[in-house]
Amino acid sequence: MQKNFGKIGFTLAVLGSSIGLGHIWGFPTFAGKNGGGAFVLLFLGIALFVGVAMLIAEMLVGQQGRKNVPDSFKVITDNPKTPWRFMGITLFAGPFILTFYCVILGWVLYYLVYVSLNLPTDISQSRLIFDELQSHTGQIGFQILFLAIILMITAYSIIYGIKSIERLNYLLMPMLFVIFFGLLFYAMTLPGFGESVEFMFNPDFSKITSSVFVEAMGQVFFSLSLGAGTIITYSSHINKNQNLVTSASWIVIPGIIISIVAGLMIFTFVFTYGSRADVDKGPGLIFIVLPVMFGHLGSLGGVLCALFMVGLLFAGLSSTVSLLEPCVKYLVDKTKYDRATLTYMVSFGIFLVGIIVILSMNTNYKQYFHYFNKDLFDWIVWISMNILLTWGGFFSSLFIGYFVPKEKLRSWMSGYIKSDFAFYFWLYSLRILAPLMVIVIFIKRIQEFGAQ
Ligand code: TRP
Repeated sequence: MQKNFGKIGFTLAVLGSSIGLGHIWGFPTFAGKNGGGAFVLLFLGIALFVGVAMLIAEMLVGQQGRKNVPDSFKVITDNPKTPWRFMGITLFAGPFILTFYCVILGWVLYYLVYVSLNLPTDISQSRLIFDELQSHTGQIGFQILFLAIILMITAYSIIYGIKSIERLNYLLMPMLFVIFFGLLFYAMTLPGFGESVEFMFNPDFSKITSSVFVEAMGQVFFSLSLGAGTIITYSSHINKNQNLVTSASWIVIPGIIISIVAGLMIFTFVFTYGSRADVDKGPGLIFIVLPVMFGHLGSLGGVLCALFMVGLLFAGLSSTVSLLEPCVKYLVDKTKYDRATLTYMVSFGIFLVGIIVILSMNTNYKQYFHYFNKDLFDWIVWISMNILLTWGGFFSSLFIGYFVPKEKLRSWMSGYIKSDFAFYFWLYSLRILAPLMVIVIFIKRIQEFGAQ
């Protein structure tokens, strides 16, 4: 007998999975790199028109299958030999993503315990702190320690099961919103706020290129936790009367709000204390820019910096839990080991690869981990965003869009989607838009690869 999420608990758990580094670190980073407004507009359009549809499709697989990922497909097709059982491959994505995700959360922890107490006052000093994290051999030990702490907290939540995931999210999600809105209100009082609003909401249409489009699509997959079995697994713990459309809206809309709040606040600080030239600084953006702005606030700044990092850490932890759970659940069902042993085993594997990821980012060891023009870290992100999640989402969309008979879908969805228009919009989004999107991402990425 598996335990179920409560109605709100489920929505909060998926929201917790969704909101994480992707929104707070990824969104501003990509928006900065891709011209601000143009990226924001594309992200919103894709999230609302295609992301929601895909999210509902994956939820439906879990809700109707009620099992781990491959077994849910077997239940729905009523065929233990169905080729859809190979969707189990998507279970690799979570641990794979965790190898870099936990490393970044480790940096967050480092910023929380060390940098909040030693805030920089200008950008160059701040850049030095960030660079030192990756250039000092001595910092490797810290990074490994923080990686281990993050994995331990994740493992602990997993071992205590669905109910503990639910409880964790009841606490973390509201806190995150409070912290973020507090910081946004503060940002509104700064001179850079106007420019930030303009940067985020005044799209320069000439900036909409195919690569911005592709990055926005990748960001939608990542931020909605699509394609890695997370949604299917979480949804296997809900009742048949859970309204998927309402849940999906309560996940996508707050996610968009958090992304926009994060972007507005971060760019306000960039424009107030740095310059336009700083907006496309990539992964370092929030780690370099934010501490400077906190540094300007004296001791209050230290507290705010710590609060921000705590918020980010919480958001990240509810995501790491959701990245590990699908794989652990599968192993619990299929092997004779208990949940705790399996969780430790998978976490240990992630830890070992995570150490390699840390080394690959260290300036002293970088040269050993550089293949075909990309560092190991970039490769792992690249493979996750452009192959694992996208193809996982692709096949779930095809499964619901084409494979499950339309009449069955109508009856499954009858409680949630009343109008024909909405139903067909959803269906065609899965049949056409979602697969097309994945194919476009794939072709574009392969071309880029060929061009290198
Ligand atoms: N959505 C999370 C974020 O934005 C990351 C995440 C959690 C995820 N679970 C996932 C991404 C499953 C893809 C698939 O940080």
